[in-house]
Amino acid sequence: MAMRPSTLPGAFYRSEEIYRQEIERIFCEHWLCIGRADQIPEPGDYFVQRVGEESLLIVRGQDGVARAFYNVCRHRGSQLCTDASGHYPSSISCPYHAWTYALDGRLIGAPHMRGVSGFDASEYSLYAAALETWHGFLFLNLAKTPEPLAERFVPFTEKLACWELAGLRPARRIEYTIRANWKLLFENFSECYHCPLVHPELNALSNYRSGFNDFVEGIFLGGPMEMNRKGTSLTMSGNRCGPVVGRVAGEDLDRIYYYTLFPNLLLSLHPDYVMFHTLWPQAPDRTDVVCEWLFDPAAFEQAGFDPDDAVAFWDRTNRQDWRICEGVQQGIRSRAYTPGPAGSGVEDLLPAFHRELLAALGSVTEPPNAE
Ligand code: FES
Ligand SMILES: [Fe+2]
Repeated sequence: MAMRPSTLPGAFYRSEEIYRQEIERIFCEHWLCIGRADQIPEPGDYFVQRVGEESLLIVRGQDGVARAFYNVCRHRGSQLCTDASGHYPSSISCPYHAWTYALDGRLIGAPHMRGVSGFDASEYSLYAAALETWHGFLFLNLAKTPEPLAERFVPFTEKLACWELAGLRPARRIEYTIRANWKLLFENFSECYHCPLVHPELNALSNYRSGFNDFVEGIFLGGPMEMNRKGTSLTMSGNRCGPVVGRVAGEDLDRIYYYTLFPNLLLSLHPDYVMFHTLWPQAPDRTDVVCEWLFDPAAFEQAGFDPDDAVAFWDRTNRQDWRICEGVQQGIRSRAYTPGPAGSGVEDLLPAFHRELLAALGSVTEPPNAE
């Protein structure tokens, strides 16, 4: 009997054990988007990024290279940094016994250790994790031997070229905490079946049946939807609220491209701005989300530039999504929940996401059947 695509069993949304496995095998093994390179423009600028129970220090070195280090002192393990972000004038000093590290992670000061026999400071650099910049986004990977990002992202790198994402500048950042499993947010972003009912304002500007998918399998999924009227955008006013981004032209001027990058980036490319969400699981039923809006540098020079026309539109839409996802989480808690049929033509990306998820988890290779 052919397998019928279905949603996942309830345990995937409420089990502590599956959640723990997802953190270990997915969030600690895959490339994660952690924000934008221009969050730390100058040498010494840093921010701290949590991944599950891990804390990583993301810092730009004197050589201009951004690096990631475990936020753990090599002496007796103290956390090095407790602030969420900031600037180191020239080095990183541990608050416990003042071991000091260069911005590239080398141990350069260890009081009273000079005479200790066999002690070699070069063996006590901070532990590093892989960090790459891609289209202006920072990607972190905690795997011991990460698959090279450039190779893994090849098919998608070219697709994004005309938005010239590396040069875009941030206008706003909003953080949300949602009482729902991270996969419900991912799944919800992957279909517009819900748009007429949940997002009437969005559907009035861009019809939910107007789209198609140009990436249908693998770590990148998604495709474009059409604006109902030419020259418009997804804003409160319906007008574009900035100059066209990068080299966007032709039919792309009247499209929104929605992509997911497994496991934690949701990317929405508009003609006049780019919005992205990063997902940060906190518990089986709780996820933190960071949402940012990027514009072409020329927008900031324009008289009367008002990014809030776009920000308010999506902040309202985001909250509509979070509310519905929290309702799904509540429903899935019930003993009455069983997987339902997916892939009705407007939900085709859900089975593809589930295949990627289950392959990454490693114990199952096919989505569970509805039966
Ligand atoms: S634990 Fe950092 S200097 Fe001792
Ligand atoms: Fe939605």
